[in-house]
Amino acid sequence: PVLVVDFGAQYAQLIARRVREASLYSEVVPHDMPAEEILAMEPAAIVLSGGPSSVYADGAPALDKALLEAGVPVFGICYGFQAMTQALGGTVAHTGMREYGATRADIDDTGSTLFNGQPPQQSVWMSHGDSVSEAPDGMKVTARTPGTTVAAFEDDERRLYGVQWHPEVMHSTFGQRVMENFLLRGAGLEAEWTPKNMVDELVARVREEVGEDRAICALSGGVDSMVAAALVQKAIGDQLTCVFVDHGLLRAGEAEQVRTDFVELTGADLVVIDASERYLDALAGVSDPEQKRKIIGREFIRIFEQAARDIVHDRGDNEHPVKWLVQGTLYPDVVESGGGAGAANIKSHHNVGGLPDDIQFKLVEPLRTLFKDEVRQVGLELGLPEKIVYRQPFPGPGLGIRIVGEVTADRLETLRKADLIAREELTAAELDRDIWQCPVVLLADVRSVGVQGDGRTYGHPIVLRPVSSEDAMTADWTRLPYDVLARISSRITNEVEEVNRVVLDVTSKPPGTIEWE
Ligand code: XMP
Repeated sequence: PVLVVDFGAQYAQLIARRVREASLYSEVVPHDMPAEEILAMEPAAIVLSGGPSSVYADGAPALDKALLEAGVPVFGICYGFQAMTQALGGTVAHTGMREYGATRADIDDTGSTLFNGQPPQQSVWMSHGDSVSEAPDGMKVTARTPGTTVAAFEDDERRLYGVQWHPEVMHSTFGQRVMENFLLRGAGLEAEWTPKNMVDELVARVREEVGEDRAICALSGGVDSMVAAALVQKAIGDQLTCVFVDHGLLRAGEAEQVRTDFVELTGADLVVIDASERYLDALAGVSDPEQKRKIIGREFIRIFEQAARDIVHDRGDNEHPVKWLVQGTLYPDVVESGGGAGAANIKSHHNVGGLPDDIQFKLVEPLRTLFKDEVRQVGLELGLPEKIVYRQPFPGPGLGIRIVGEVTADRLETLRKADLIAREELTAAELDRDIWQCPVVLLADVRSVGVQGDGRTYGHPIVLRPVSSEDAMTADWTRLPYDVLARISSRITNEVEEVNRVVLDVTSKPPGTIEWE
């Protein structure tokens, strides 16, 4: 694999993703993994990620020089570039001068390994305090920026390369080309990480992890859990049972759709559990979003534990209890629930931070290191139809986190009607593939005055939250055509009695998250 050494921050997984976009298999390893262990993984190349602002900071992670002397091609990025400089005897100046955001890099040698085929000037994304003031011996300096004279260097002989900026972020216009030049030209690797190899690898890992044990899969109706289920089914066949909990927080028609789409297509063993009453009871009186998420996560697990006992009982096979719970957790869920090293807890995704501590399953999460677009590729490779694979994301906690305020049966009914109208109109306007998703939110604790017919109304607002995104980590609000918005608004206020106002959320992420809770 191409190993990305994680020096902290949230860049490492993104780098791994870019490497995989270059069709090479990549994994992230922590910076405190000893060099001999890293080398024992036989890396085809190593990328040193960005990290804290200064190599001089207290406790700044060190780079073991052995990684640079093993004959493995190495690419240092930002902090990794500076750590490399220091390890090889160059100078990192603690100037106190900072360079943040987009800037212009001047490339000195467009025939070099990293910059081959690129223009002499490119927009790059910077985020650093210290600067390399003197490159190590043997390094050829190949780029500079207004803020630093040594912004990139290369040594083809030792196959060591580095850049001060972040080629992995979208704002670095030739970033992916720089990465690919390192991987394909510098390290001389050949692209081979195809969707088929990705599936084979994931299947093999699940097989090894689960062995002869039984597993159940929590199907939510979303893409992630369906792909995870299909993958695990491929790995362990009928050792897997799929369970679909109807928690009563689903959109109109959803439970039916899971049945038809998934079961008929994959022929998987499916148990449907109606738990709507139980959820309404558990959520009664609760309006705090984190508390809702934790309750929904906890009830999920308790229901699965019961389902697992029932499966064993029904099969009369006490020898093989259900040990594993399969979840379609993706990397962004892990990061946002505070799972990445040093990452803050933004919200407890029900299948990560929302899990109870005393959970009796071991978790198998085959998609945990993947981003959404990779999951879609895996899904297609597994033979799932586009109808499932390109389905818009829908959160596990469902409408429970789209009612701002207490969740009640009446409010769910109101939201379901409004949501169905929005979905119908977006589909009719053929906009489904253009938007990432469009949460429809009921502000249950807010009322406003309206007028309808000859009478005064005092109803609730509905929020439309159409967003465009690449991976849900960041998003922008989608500029939907006014006439589509007008149709949705007029239909919702006419057809849903409790609603007298429709508003549009025009916030990007950050600062807003996609969901309101
Ligand atoms: P946020 O609101 O964090 O959402 O910007 C990012 C993406 O994740 C979805 N989401 C969830 N998915 N369980 C899920 O399976 C959850 O608890 C959860 N919370 C948010 C959200 O719909 C968006 O696609």
